[in-house]
Amino acid sequence: MTPPADPTATETAAPSAPTGAELRRGPFRPGERVQLTDERGRMNTITLAEGGEFHSHRGVLAHRELIGHPEGTVVENSAGFRYQALRPLLKDFVLSMPRGAAVVYPKDAGQIVTMADIFPGARVVEAGVGSGALSISLLRAVGDRGRLHSFERREEFAEIARGNVETMFGGPHPAWRITLGDLAEELGAHEAPGSVDRVVLDMLAPWECLDAVAQALTPGGVVICYVATVTQLSRTAEALRADGRFTEPDASETMVRGWHVEGLAVRPDHRMVAHTGFLLTARRLADGAERLAPKRRASKSEFSQEDLDAWTPVALGEREASDKKLRRAARDARSLAERAAGAGPADRDPEDGTPTGGTPGAAAPGPPQAPAPHGARAQEPAEEQEDRP
Ligand SMILES: C[S@@+](CC[C@H](N)C(=O)[O-])C[C@H]1O[C@@H](n2cnc3c(N)ncnc32)[C@H](O)[C@@H]1O
Repeated sequence: MTPPADPTATETAAPSAPTGAELRRGPFRPGERVQLTDERGRMNTITLAEGGEFHSHRGVLAHRELIGHPEGTVVENSAGFRYQALRPLLKDFVLSMPRGAAVVYPKDAGQIVTMADIFPGARVVEAGVGSGALSISLLRAVGDRGRLHSFERREEFAEIARGNVETMFGGPHPAWRITLGDLAEELGAHEAPGSVDRVVLDMLAPWECLDAVAQALTPGGVVICYVATVTQLSRTAEALRADGRFTEPDASETMVRGWHVEGLAVRPDHRMVAHTGFLLTARRLADGAERLAPKRRASKSEFSQEDLDAWTPVALGEREASDKKLRRAARDARSLAERAAGAGPADRDPEDGTPTGGTPGAAAPGPPQAPAPHGARAQEPAEEQEDRP
């Protein structure tokens, strides 16, 4: 028999907002990152603090002019210089956050989420974590009830990524876990065979991890590799074919060309980010199934060590970040995450639920911000305040 309804029982509480969602709305709060754009389109990203000030050679702007005000507010500094204030979007955030390793560009992160079919609730493995730019997109896609397990060889990178992810989501994300170590050695120890839906590899030598990936992936699961050079692309594709447990791989690159649209002057931008990386996708076959692929004439697919040495990203001029730079980026990322954790969602009026303003936050003005990279996969963390020309 159904028990009588309890008259004192309250209604089922509405599900709470997904992690980080409340930080994307409401008036500006201390601890938050805010993007200031001047009349010429120049951008600076600052971290709001009670009593904080933003200094530039064009004057001083007190943070109190922004705290408690809505996004899109236009403010004037001490010299009458005007700025439009908005929260950075994900694409702005990843290009101005502290970093040690080259980040995946927003255009590629968008493609990865779609091409790898990262769905809410998915069990995803990622390596390496680098600065955490891609981890943020993957966490948004799997949501609070999914799982992202990121593997990273270097502790300093893991530290930077942790800071960046916590700044973005206002604290630790419930779906995220980082394991330190080499994916090829650690994956099998942490993920049961056939238990992973998607694997995303952004590293120098993805082919070294394919055996571990094939064991962890569920039949039909997707592996997607992001590589910077044609030699990595070719070697990874041949390794996927040789493994025998994957479908025929698909390769692509993504170019996004901005346009200048003003009156009758409508044309492509003069400059664009022409090359970032290539994407290579394949699916896990069922155990014992044979890869079906068009028969091709044999082509040269053997690489000599000389070929491989000549074409690594480092040999092609991609710079290794120094330990000092990594330590500084990790410090900046940690400090921003601590401020973001202090920001919290806006206090709500108990009567009508409207925001009442910010919660008390950090007391010090923000550190210098990282500029957006000039090259596609920039390695340099920031020293100046300006984001972009
Ligand atoms: C280009 S970065 C990744 C950038 C990251 N996707 C982002 O968007 O910020 C490459 C990272 O892979 C790590 N790495 C390389 N090989 C690895 C492996 N076999 N296992 C785990 N991490 C690895 C490196 O230490 C480095 O941090």
